[in-house]
Amino acid sequence: MRIVLMGPPGAGKGTQAELLTSELNIPHISTGDMFRKALREGTPLGMEAKEYMDKGQLVPDHVTVGIVKERLAQDDCQQGFLLDGFPRTVAQADALEQTLKELGVKLDYVINIVVKREDLLERLTGRRVCKACGATYHIKYNPSEKGDRCQNCGGELYQRSDDTEATVANRLDVYGQQTAPLIAYYQKKDILLDVDGNNAVQEVTKNILQLLRKEQI
Ligand code: AP5
Ligand code: MG
Ligand code: ZN
Repeated sequence: MRIVLMGPPGAGKGTQAELLTSELNIPHISTGDMFRKALREGTPLGMEAKEYMDKGQLVPDHVTVGIVKERLAQDDCQQGFLLDGFPRTVAQADALEQTLKELGVKLDYVINIVVKREDLLERLTGRRVCKACGATYHIKYNPSEKGDRCQNCGGELYQRSDDTEATVANRLDVYGQQTAPLIAYYQKKDILLDVDGNNAVQEVTKNILQLLRKEQI
């Protein structure tokens, strides 16, 4: 299955992507994670992306499209994939369509996780991520059983540098201006599935899987 997971910052894309890709056995491709990895490794891509990420702005389309195109051409994407946080502009969506056309495949579904704006700020400022394995926690909604250490691997938990109140506000505005138009874009193509992201994590996963199975029949 070829899926795009969309939704505003903090909607739960990363959280759901982990659960869905292990259930569906397809790779999880997060452009945000790719940029953060490049930054940790100190590559030019990481340095360039950091400038935009720290301000809550989008990394330029040609950069983002380039890394996704490369990733989708790899062997493990042949049987499907789940894109998390890409596309985020109409130009990226057009480029994705073109890339998939060249590969002779097409997108099956776009899952849109809907969460009230007032809840997003609390989700993001309370998020903690494991430095070692990338597991995502929340100080209130999903705390680690090991306090400030990861319950999976014991790694140190940290707060993403773009999860401050000021940067989050900007990210939400950028989402509204540049990414929200993709809802209508994919509605027109008749592949958009809305899911209520205000429920508990497991409930959201269950509802997404149910929607996908219904569509497959
Ligand atoms: P990216 O890393 O993609 O960030 P984002 O879109 O802002 O989304 P987040 O990762 O913040 O949120 P999420 O939806 O994954 O939520 P999560 O599951 O963690 O992008 C970062 C930056 O990279 C961008 O700002 C941009 O600069 C750049 N970039 C990336 N892609 C790009 C692109 N295509 N083009 C250009 N630039 C790009 O959950 C959030 C919190 O809520 C967690 O604490 C979690 O535990 C909690 N939570 C999750 N689900 C629930 C629930 N159901 N109930 C209660 N709490 C929950
Ligand atoms: Mg994420
Ligand atoms: Zn960990």
